[in-house]
Amino acid sequence: MLETLIRVPPDPILGVTAALQKDESTDKVDLGVGVYKDDSGKTPIPRAVKRAEQEMLAAQTTKTYLSPIGNPDFNTQMAALTLGSDLVNRKGDLSLAQAPGGSGALRLGAELLLAARPGSSIHVSDPTWANHVPLLGNAGLRLETYPYYDAARNTLVFDRMIEHFDALPAGSVVLLHACCHNPTGQDLDGAQWSAVAEVLARRRLMPFIDMAYHGLGEDLDRDAASIRLIAKAVPELLVAVSCSKNFGIYRERTGMLAVLSAGSEPASVVTGQLSRLARSLWSMPPDHGAAIVDRVLSQPELRQDWMTELHHMANRINSLRSLLADRLSEATQRDFGWIKAQRGMFSRLPLSAEQVINAREALHIYMAPDGRINVAGVSSANVDYLTTGLASVMRG
Ligand SMILES: Cc1ncc(COP(=O)(O)O)c(C=O)c1O
Repeated sequence: MLETLIRVPPDPILGVTAALQKDESTDKVDLGVGVYKDDSGKTPIPRAVKRAEQEMLAAQTTKTYLSPIGNPDFNTQMAALTLGSDLVNRKGDLSLAQAPGGSGALRLGAELLLAARPGSSIHVSDPTWANHVPLLGNAGLRLETYPYYDAARNTLVFDRMIEHFDALPAGSVVLLHACCHNPTGQDLDGAQWSAVAEVLARRRLMPFIDMAYHGLGEDLDRDAASIRLIAKAVPELLVAVSCSKNFGIYRERTGMLAVLSAGSEPASVVTGQLSRLARSLWSMPPDHGAAIVDRVLSQPELRQDWMTELHHMANRINSLRSLLADRLSEATQRDFGWIKAQRGMFSRLPLSAEQVINAREALHIYMAPDGRINVAGVSSANVDYLTTGLASVMRG
C-alpha cells in the first residue's frame, strides 16, 4: 500500500538548513530559518525560562493528563499578555485552548472555522508564511490571497488590500499577521490598522490573527495593539499565539488559540468544540513549555527578567536592521532604508531565485528561496562579509 506514496520535494526552508549544515566553509552565514540569534550566532534560552523550568521540575509531583484544552493557568496568563486587560474583562466571551505551538493553534482555528461553516475560504496576505498554506489548506480551508506587498518598491499595497476586503462577502475569513509580518517584515501603522478594523466590522468579516512574534517588533504592548484594536471593533475573532520565539522554547511546541465570541453562550459552545477538535487532533497538548511560560508570567521577578531580555532581543534586531540597511546602501549605492522601517526577524531582499542560489554557492550565504532573510542572523562578525558579498551578487 505504501508504495503508492510519491516522494515529497524537500521543504524549501528546511532544505536551506540541511544544505547549511553540510557546508564546511568557515565563511558561511545563516539567514535562513526563523529563529532568534545572539551576536555569537546562538539561539539562547532566556534566563527566566531556564530558571522557571528548573523550579517547575522541582515542584512537579505528577505528570498525569491535564485536558484537551491544556493548562488553564497558562491559557489565562497568555490571554492577558496577548489580548490585554479590556478583553480579559470579557472573559465570559472568550474560549482558550493551549495548542502545540502557533502552528497547532492555527490548525485548531482552521478546524473550528470549518466546523462552523464547512467549505469556508481564508484570505491570506500575498505573500505569507509558506507554512500557512498546508496548515490551513490541509484542514480543508480554501486559500485565497489579498494584495499586501509590492516587492519592487518594498512597500505595502494598502489601498488594494482595503479594496479587496471591501469586496468580500460577509463571513469571509481574513488571516492577519499581528506584527512582524513573515516574510516581508512590513507591518501596518496605527492608522492603517484602524482602517482594517473598520472594514472588517462594516463588511462583517471574520479576522483570524496570527501572533508569532509578540514583543520582537517594538514591545509587548505596541506589538499587540492591532489585536486589541480589532477586538474592540468586531464581535468575533480568532487569535493564534506562539510562545516559540519570544520565550525561546521552539521545540517545546507551546501556543494558544483564543476565540472571542459574541456572548457567553456561544463562547461556551466554542470551548466545547475546541475540546472536541483538540481531542481528535492531538488529544492533549504537550505540557512542559506551557508550565514554564505559566511560571514565568506569574512570578513577578521572572516576568520582569523575561521582559528585559525580550526587549533586548527586539532592540538587537532593530539595530541590526539599521546596520544592514546602511552597509547595504553604501556597498550598492542603492537605497535600503526600508529595511530600517520594517519589524521583526524578516525582510525580503530584492534578489532573483538565481541570485539567491549564487549567494549560497559562491559565498555560502544562506537565505530562503524568495530572498527572505532572518535579520537576527546578521552579526558584528559577519556584516562586512555579508554586505560586500550581497552587493556583488546584486551586481552580477
Ligand atoms: C507567521 C508565523 N506564524 C506561526 C508560526 C508558528 O510557530 P510555532 O508553531 O513554531 O510556534 C510561525 C513560525 O515560524 C510563523 O512565522
